[in-house]
Amino acid sequence: MTSLQEWHLWMSAQLAAVTDQPAQESRWLMAHSLGLRPVELLVNAHESLGHAEKDRLQNLLDERLRGVPLAYCLGEWSFYGLDLEVNAAVLIPRPDSELLIHLALAEADAGNAQRILDLGTGSGALALALAVAQPQARVFAVERSPEALAVARRNGERLGAKVEWLEGDWFAPLDPALRFDRIVSNPPYLASADPHLPELQHEPLAALVAGPSGLECLESIIQGAAARLHPGGQILLEHGWEQGTAVGSLLLEQGFQQVQTHVDIAGRERVTTARSPDHA
Ligand SMILES: C[S@@+](CC[C@H](N)C(=O)[O-])C[C@H]1O[C@@H](n2cnc3c(N)ncnc32)[C@H](O)[C@@H]1O
Repeated sequence: MTSLQEWHLWMSAQLAAVTDQPAQESRWLMAHSLGLRPVELLVNAHESLGHAEKDRLQNLLDERLRGVPLAYCLGEWSFYGLDLEVNAAVLIPRPDSELLIHLALAEADAGNAQRILDLGTGSGALALALAVAQPQARVFAVERSPEALAVARRNGERLGAKVEWLEGDWFAPLDPALRFDRIVSNPPYLASADPHLPELQHEPLAALVAGPSGLECLESIIQGAAARLHPGGQILLEHGWEQGTAVGSLLLEQGFQQVQTHVDIAGRERVTTARSPDHA
């Protein structure tokens, strides 16, 4: 087995064990490993592969067959039209979070220049999507994991987006005088015993699990947020599909107004938004 075409057919057959789009994944993995654009695979289908190229492909295939998510195998993933570096230190950005970006930008269209805060930025996905869409905004992003923050910084450089990256625990690394027009967050929201955790074993646990109830991080963020928002400022929180009511109650307890839970395309409650009290 020597040609690109033979490898592609063989890899597709192997990948069928771990994915329902084996031919597509084979093309992506081959293009990535060989440094080609997918269309160049077609043009070069009958070219022979050298030993080093075969070794690289085999290693990548083995990784994928061990269940490593495609995004980590490729080292990059697309979020809101942006190609972001990802590695095992960061959560793979999910299309679900695009709902939060859509809601934030729908409000921003009607508003002025913004000061925006992204809490738990991971790969920088939310902060960067907002910074690229609103170049006039001043965007801050906080992350506790230094390894994740390094990925976020590189993504910022790669996209030429201006974000102020801060390492630490939620609001702690921010200048105490800073106030924001908008706070966004997709924090860890799984409970420690969530049955889905085994499926997510390749992603960082600290990005997924909040604590025994799953609401711990959302609670900390909501408790600190009113004091950090300008009066009438907006908070947008992504959460689990069964957490909408609980998140809404936590926001009301802290005096937030206009609390609204939004559903994704599947009709599941995934994002709750609210306005800070006018006297905050
Ligand atoms: C669910 S991931 C979201 C990453 C990214 N915002 C996204 O949507 O793809 C949550 C992130 O919050 C970070 N995190 C967890 N606890 C934190 C804390 N106390 N302070 C700051 N960041 C925290 C995790 O390291 C992780 O990167």
